[in-house]
Amino acid sequence: MATDTLTVIDNRTGRRYELPITHGTIRAMDLRQIKGAADDFGLMSYDPAFLNTASCQSRITYIDGDRGVLEYRGYPIEQLAEHSTYLETAYLLLHGELPTGRQLEAWVDSITHHTMVHENIKRLLEGFRYDAHPMGMLVGTVGALSTFYPDAKQIHDPRAREIQIHRLLAKLPTLAAFLYRHSVGMPYAYPDNDLSYTGNFLNMLFKTTEVKYKPDPTLERALDVLFILHADHEQNCSANAMRAVGSSHVDPYSASAAATAALYGPLHGGANEAVLRMLDQIGAKDHVPAFVQKVKAGEGRLMGFGHRVYKNYDPRATLIKRLADQVFAVTGRNPKLDIALELERIALQDDYFVTRKLYPNVDFYSGLIYQAMRFPVDLFPVLFAIPRTAGWLAQWQEMLLDPEQKIARPRQVYRGPGRRDYVPLERRG
Ligand code: CMC
Repeated sequence: MATDTLTVIDNRTGRRYELPITHGTIRAMDLRQIKGAADDFGLMSYDPAFLNTASCQSRITYIDGDRGVLEYRGYPIEQLAEHSTYLETAYLLLHGELPTGRQLEAWVDSITHHTMVHENIKRLLEGFRYDAHPMGMLVGTVGALSTFYPDAKQIHDPRAREIQIHRLLAKLPTLAAFLYRHSVGMPYAYPDNDLSYTGNFLNMLFKTTEVKYKPDPTLERALDVLFILHADHEQNCSANAMRAVGSSHVDPYSASAAATAALYGPLHGGANEAVLRMLDQIGAKDHVPAFVQKVKAGEGRLMGFGHRVYKNYDPRATLIKRLADQVFAVTGRNPKLDIALELERIALQDDYFVTRKLYPNVDFYSGLIYQAMRFPVDLFPVLFAIPRTAGWLAQWQEMLLDPEQKIARPRQVYRGPGRRDYVPLERRG
């Protein structure tokens, strides 16, 4: 009869071990009992970049990379994108269930009333140069929030955690808008509590001399949908950073700053910015075949293509492509769309991309929408960080409440020199 175990025979000793299989995994610690000799440390698994290692059990986000499925707490991303709002989705990620009408009202009210930042944040921003990258400024200001809220250290107090979660969700758009206004030399625009989460964000970014800013409803909704699509993506690089840094029991602002730094990289959240720069570099539809040849020759990557988990079309890319039409109907068509469509067409027929299962990911089309909405290219990763904060906080809280979690501390396989004596300077060649 089949049992849920794995039988391992160590050919060094001839000994046989039965390792339990639970949820399709074996416990790496069960390998430790497998020793070549009595004083042996025990067997470890070696898995650079976590290609086949689950670092946690999670109930937040489900991805089936082969089928192109993404669900938050069991709800398909397509349904959330159609029917939900970003704040409702953030509630779902953090609480595990969709809110009742009353819960949603209280939640939206609280987030709306935590949007102000301390005036000193403005002075902090003044210290950045006019051409400072927005993500660098975001890492700095999110981290700095920890100094404004010493109560954030009380990470084991559920109420203190809740307050920081509300503050972070509420203040991220304010920080992002303020650092944008700093870059362009415009006075900061304060939050407007009459507006929605994304409506207010557009207000703080683009308000000029009008008494009341009125966001375009199509663009406000499009941004809200983009925020839903970016809200969480299980154990990606930045979520892993949030969990790893948070596992030291540092406050959530410091951990979020670390997650933001992880997102900054061009292989992660910086990819949407890199896609736009790539499309600029290609310049015209006719140049696409030559560009694809260069990628195949190993001269750079096709940014916005490929994913560690999706080996199929990223479901978020499908939704974003559809959203682009709605946005372009208001803003006018982004001329780079033709280059992007041609890139996708050629790549999806090309053996190099087909055999490696490289499909457009979330970042391939989002930048075109952001650009059409007048966002500067280097602000794109910031537009990823704002909604992902909900996912980071959900992952952080789940990690803190998981009795199996401890400070994240991987092992290594040491391959350096053996013990040797110090050589005085005059005797070194
Ligand atoms: N263009 C060309 N070749 C690629 C690409 C690409 N975008 N992505 C992967 N490959 C090739 C890679 O060279 C390798 O080929 P070979 O087997 O001949 O060496 C093969 O495909 C497997 O690549 P990998 O680097 O082992 O795959 P990975 O799972 O480690 O990397 C990735 C995933 C997302 C970092 C990678 O696909 C990539 O660099 N993509 C471009 C950057 C990008 O769009 N990032 C956004 C990801 S989605 C949102 C997010 O996470 O923030």
